[in-house]
Amino acid sequence: MGRILFEIREENLDTGLRGYPCGTCTTSEVDPIKGVSYAGIPIAQVALWKPVEVIFLLFFGKKGNEKEVLAFEADLKEREPLSKQVVEAIRSLPREMEPMHLLCTALLLLGTFEGRKNYKEDALNLIANVKELGFVCMEHHAGKKLHLDPKIGHLFHILHMDHDGGNLSTFVGKAVASGLEDLYGATCAAMAALHGPRHGRASQDSLKFFESMAKEQDIEAAVRKKIAQGELIYGFGHAVLRAEDPRATLLYELAKKEYKDHPLVKTALCLREKVPIILKETGKISNPYPNVDAISGTLLTAAGFPYPEYFSVLFGMSRLIGISIQILHERLYARSGRGTPLVRPTYYYRDRHAI
Ligand code: MLT
Repeated sequence: MGRILFEIREENLDTGLRGYPCGTCTTSEVDPIKGVSYAGIPIAQVALWKPVEVIFLLFFGKKGNEKEVLAFEADLKEREPLSKQVVEAIRSLPREMEPMHLLCTALLLLGTFEGRKNYKEDALNLIANVKELGFVCMEHHAGKKLHLDPKIGHLFHILHMDHDGGNLSTFVGKAVASGLEDLYGATCAAMAALHGPRHGRASQDSLKFFESMAKEQDIEAAVRKKIAQGELIYGFGHAVLRAEDPRATLLYELAKKEYKDHPLVKTALCLREKVPIILKETGKISNPYPNVDAISGTLLTAAGFPYPEYFSVLFGMSRLIGISIQILHERLYARSGRGTPLVRPTYYYRDRHAI
């Protein structure tokens, strides 16, 4: 008999599985204080690597030597580009669709035309083509070419690749794949999960909040007023973290270095300083510190990517890497190769009139 990890009481029901241990994760871990590490290596260290080195680390669970990374890179290159059929099918979709819905559909189209019904091959093909897939969706929606500064793009990409197994999109993707749906259907569901304002769309909503704060003479007073009116303060707090998100710390550093005079960056830095103090005073918040959304959209905007409607797509293009690798692990390698079983938790019947 193993250790008891968690005691489930009645008050834990209907709480979004907060804190419930559900499984093991071989790619990353989120420590409440230190934040995310990839295969045991703190994110601040990994952030200095090339994206392909980080993908290798997540894929194989170890740092690759030069030769191994080059071979991996060559394998991914051979899987590029997307077929004309896929690109044309995406470009025939209505441009009125939400950008994230375009991405969800694009994943299904990729599965239709290029899927192999083999989790490993599909995961590698998706990882190799995910950047192009995302840009085809965004540029089709925008009706023009989009450019993202590679320095900002690389950091954003690395920081968003994985965040343990329990974040909503990863959890949903793995749950859907547990029914043996293929990688494309499962990642499509994962991206729908990422689309919600409580998950991937938070950086878009946070940017709107920062833009409104940038117009205030007295930011501290404006924040206090919002809290008094019961309004949300975007970009602060996290379901797991209990300290400043190290991903936010890295983005703040880059924003200070490159764009310290940008009005939104100034606002974001001012909020970083003031909001935790104000939220702590309320005594109601378990984590008053900034998360990655407190600065990611601001930095993208300052760096010349002022398209909040595409922030979740960028997030998705990165997170699809971690999700694909985690699905691959759960389907092919977990439990000595048997894979994890169909996800099927228990729900207790309650007479709705009695609640
Ligand atoms: C993420 O990166 O997925 C978010 O911080 C949310 C989470 O970890 O639950």
